[in-house]
Amino acid sequence: MPTTCVVGILWGDEGKGKVIDYLAADADFVVRYGGGHNAGHTLVLPSGKLVLHLVPSGVVHAHTTNVIGNGVVVDPIHLVAEVARLRERGLAVALGRNLLLSERAHVILEAHRQQDHWHEHLRGSGKIGTTGRGIGPAYSDRCSRIGLRLGDLLRPQRLRAGLQGLVQQKNAWFGPAGLQPLDAEAMFRDLSAAGDALRAGITDTGAVLRRALAAGKRILLEGAQGCLLDLEHGTYPYVTSSHASTGGAFSGTGLPPHGMRVVGIAKAYATRVGEGPFPTELDDELGNRLRTAGNEFGATTGRPRRCGWFDSVAVRYSGALSGAGELVVTNLDVLRGFPLRIATGYRLPDGRRTGEFPAFDLEAVAPDYVELPAFTEDLREVRRFDALPPNAQRYVQALEQHTGLPVRTVSVGPERHQVILR
Ligand code: IMP
Repeated sequence: MPTTCVVGILWGDEGKGKVIDYLAADADFVVRYGGGHNAGHTLVLPSGKLVLHLVPSGVVHAHTTNVIGNGVVVDPIHLVAEVARLRERGLAVALGRNLLLSERAHVILEAHRQQDHWHEHLRGSGKIGTTGRGIGPAYSDRCSRIGLRLGDLLRPQRLRAGLQGLVQQKNAWFGPAGLQPLDAEAMFRDLSAAGDALRAGITDTGAVLRRALAAGKRILLEGAQGCLLDLEHGTYPYVTSSHASTGGAFSGTGLPPHGMRVVGIAKAYATRVGEGPFPTELDDELGNRLRTAGNEFGATTGRPRRCGWFDSVAVRYSGALSGAGELVVTNLDVLRGFPLRIATGYRLPDGRRTGEFPAFDLEAVAPDYVELPAFTEDLREVRRFDALPPNAQRYVQALEQHTGLPVRTVSVGPERHQVILR
């Protein structure tokens, strides 16, 4: 199949950057379809660690064309800075050549960042724990049909008219809410300057991708966040505001819904950043040890990630809804010396057992676990599945058994080569 979609199976941070980097070696196009610079995709290259927020992870491969699809929300000021940072790292990022930006992608404004913080403040103890990047408010404006698109930045008259409407709507409540009122003229200047800087890359990426598909080019879709943060299917309201699962891959790129290979990425344990239910969370010393062993701190915000046991109920749900045909299991090496447990089902508050992932009351379920023998060996230099310690092999086989998904790839360290293919 010419199109592959890499999708995070739980709440993001599964190590998609490394897998995309690996798969991008065989791709012509690498395409982001949703989210914004709330994402942080970490690559460990021979030259050192590289964290990408908005630019697709294929940018480190000279032969790929990288596309920011229409489903992404773009902070143009951030994007200009990210491109400059990548160039400083010696990467040849050329707008219009190896980096294309959808003219339909919506723009994140400084006002959206203000709104994001304000909404979180108002929610008080019920806060989402957003990344504070303005993601939700930018998508809200898109739905409210007052958003600006990247293509507007190149059209002064449309930009002025769009800003006038948007500023009028926002200033009606920004001042009274204690937010900084917006200055349409200053915004026009800043956005026009950002548009000029990005002009060479802004195009009809949907048309480019459909032509590429027709020509048999290999397209790699880079999911951001994870299925359980999907606006529709995730742990609402503790979700992001985009369609992070594969459903967003079509609407967020303009590609037609033809068959695609879906690769689900899951850590060998579970993590979550921000608030919201997490049935297998280890809210104790073991969880702290896992956080330290896995260096589980957000690539975007530096926040400590909550850690817990592998949850096959959640993985089965996300795998099914995303159409994943296989799992890549990352960070297996991190579990060295840890007890090994896998959640196989949930007990509901009324005592009933279920293997389904519920839409409500997830905070009240109690997981049932199976326990497996631990492994104590260092896995980082192992390159063949049958060379893994028997207990590590058994753990992976148990993940397959309980999720119903074949594990074809196991990652045993952050570096490119630290991977086992089966
Ligand atoms: P937002 O996307 O900034 O609105 O945040 C909404 C929720 O998604 C919060 O719980 C964030 O911590 C979470 N989130 C957003 N982006 C990522 C990511 O790339 N990795 C993990 N969690 C994320």
